[in-house]
Amino acid sequence: MIQDQFKRPLRDLRISVTDRCNFRCTYCMPAEIFGEGYKFLPRDEILSFEEIERLTRIIVRAGAVKLRLTGGEPLVRQDIETLVAMLAEIDGVEDLAMTTNAYFLPQKAQALKDAGLQRVTISLDSLDEDVFQRMNGRRSSVQKVLDGIAAAEQAGFDPIKINTVVQRGVNDHTVVDLARFCKDHGYIVRFIEYMDVGTMNGWRMDDVVPADELVARIDAELPLEPIGKNYRGEVARRYRFRNGGGEIGLITSVTRPFCGACTRLRLSPEGQIFTCLFAGQGTDLRAPLRSGASDEELEQILRGTWHARNDRYSEERSELTEPRTEKVQMYHIGG
Ligand code: GTP
Ligand code: 5AD
Ligand code: SF4
Ligand code: SF4
Repeated sequence: MIQDQFKRPLRDLRISVTDRCNFRCTYCMPAEIFGEGYKFLPRDEILSFEEIERLTRIIVRAGAVKLRLTGGEPLVRQDIETLVAMLAEIDGVEDLAMTTNAYFLPQKAQALKDAGLQRVTISLDSLDEDVFQRMNGRRSSVQKVLDGIAAAEQAGFDPIKINTVVQRGVNDHTVVDLARFCKDHGYIVRFIEYMDVGTMNGWRMDDVVPADELVARIDAELPLEPIGKNYRGEVARRYRFRNGGGEIGLITSVTRPFCGACTRLRLSPEGQIFTCLFAGQGTDLRAPLRSGASDEELEQILRGTWHARNDRYSEERSELTEPRTEKVQMYHIGG
């Protein structure tokens, strides 16, 4: 097992399979910046499935047990179920999940399940059509997402998690509705504090609704009580509904950072590893991979990178006097 500078082991790997997305969420890929002329990574710079599989095997051997496929939007990568099947075969993988905007789930859910995907998390910021469309750059509708969720349920994914990014004055007035809807349908909704990921969303602290405030607002209508973590290092704080089943989660990356237990490594589409969601730079594995490095040599680079890791950006944020200007973009490593 390898440990970083704060004795945190490597347990989770988040694999971004593409930097492209068919949505333009204002907090992630604002349409003004990611317009027609925006240059995404060319095909030959993106890792092939075989390359992703090889790096994943090495990272799993070094300790990762949970894998999550992200993007951009992972389902815009062609034949992604083929990669799922390859990763599902790796010895030592205990959990294989995907975070998706659900748009292509009606076509893909069954194939993903059959390939061995264990869990899906679906992004849905509001059930209010206008609010939702404004947040995703008018690329999708609530019904489209509900169709995707239905397809995931039909394929046998259970439980289904919903990710909701909350921005003050944008969708915070719709969170109680969403909580009620998820309770009624047995989905686990997690409200995420809007974060200053990347450098393009114009984040301001005033836009964040602190999780405590959200809990109070939901509790006033749907009484809640806190419950414990499922596993060490879980990012969500969990609450269950006092009357009837179901739970919600709060991802408090801004008001109560969880860096102390952060065991996540991120692999970018072009083969760099990042030790933090807010890292300025990654470590390139593609060049050595393509110039013939052995598994042992790649593992050495990984071990060195993890060993040197001292990231705790969310804990440091409040101490920084100037915002960090060099940060990886969210659509590049998928949260
Ligand atoms: P489970 O495996 O279901 O527990 O997933 P998870 O809680 O890791 O959920 P998911 O991957 O959906 O993460 C939810 C959101 O939390 C992400 O989309 C990010 O926005 C945020 N998040 C996840 N990991 C980190 C992290 O290491 N640091 C910060 N600051 N935010 C994170
Ligand atoms: N702050 C918080 N969450 C974000 N996501 C994307 N950008 C941000 C941000 N700036 C969420 C998406 C998705 C997950 C991958 O990350 O909504 O659920
Ligand atoms: Fe696409 Fe997800 Fe970013 Fe929205 S948050 S633009 S769905 S990658
Ligand atoms: Fe981990 Fe960086 Fe997020 Fe802290 S800010 S929890 S170190 S990814």
